[in-house]
Amino acid sequence: MIKKHLNEVNSTNTYAKEHIKNIKDKTVIYTSHQTGGRGRFNRVWVDLGDENLFLSFVLKPSKDLKPVYSNLTQYTALKLAETFKEYSINPQIKWPNDILINGKKISGILAESVMSEGKLKGLIIGVGLNLNAKEEDFSQIDKIVTALNLEIKKSVDKNVFLNKFCKNFFDGYDNFLEHGFISIKSEYESYANFIGKEVTIKNFSTTIKGIAEKITDNGAIIVEGQEFLTGDII
Ligand code: BTN
Repeated sequence: MIKKHLNEVNSTNTYAKEHIKNIKDKTVIYTSHQTGGRGRFNRVWVDLGDENLFLSFVLKPSKDLKPVYSNLTQYTALKLAETFKEYSINPQIKWPNDILINGKKISGILAESVMSEGKLKGLIIGVGLNLNAKEEDFSQIDKIVTALNLEIKKSVDKNVFLNKFCKNFFDGYDNFLEHGFISIKSEYESYANFIGKEVTIKNFSTTIKGIAEKITDNGAIIVEGQEFLTGDII
C-alpha cells in the first residue's frame, strides 16, 4: 500500500482520475481539505475542516472490468463499519454503502472507473469521513448527518482512523477480489439494518416503496420481488 497526502485538492477522486497513469495500484490519496468534493447523484460533499478525512483508493486489479468490481463499494462499506466498530459504537450499513450511526450518515462512498480504448485504467473508490465536527456544522446539510466525535463524545485522531481503515481494507482486499460478494455476505448482512423493513429504493429509472426482502449472493437487494443491482435506499 502507498499513501499520498495532499494539503488541499478539489476532489481526491478527480485528482486520482487526472493522474491515473502515474498512480500505482493500491495507492491511497488523502487530504483534509477538498474544495470541490463530489457525492453520488451530483450531490456535493462538504468540507468540515482540518480534522476530517477525504480519501480515494486507487486500484488497478486488471485491464478488464469484472463483475466483482461493482461490489467494491459494499466491501468498502463493510470495512468502514468494522473500523467504526473499533470505536465501541454500533454502525449500520444502508444498502448499498452508506454508513449510519444511530440512524445518521457518517460517511459516503463514490466509486468511479477510468476506461480508455476499452481497457480499465483504474478503479477509484472515494470515501468521505465525518470524524470531527460541531453540531452546528450540519445546519447547511439537508440530510441527517453525524460525525464520529459527536457519537463517542471525544475527539478523533484522523491519522489513527486512517491507518486502521487502510489496514482493514487491504487485509481482506485480495481475498475479496478472488471470492466476491458471497465471501462477505454474512458479515455485510450483520450490519444491514434494513432487511425486513419498509424502504424506498431509487435508481435511475424507478422509485419503489416496499419491504426489503433480502440481499442476494451478488449483493443486489430484493424489494417487493424486484431485484436492484444499483440504486440507493432513500
Ligand atoms: C455520497 O454521496 O454519499 C458519496 C460521498 C463521497 C465523498 C468522497 S470524499 C473523497 C472522494 N472525493 C470526492 O470528491 N468524493 C469522494
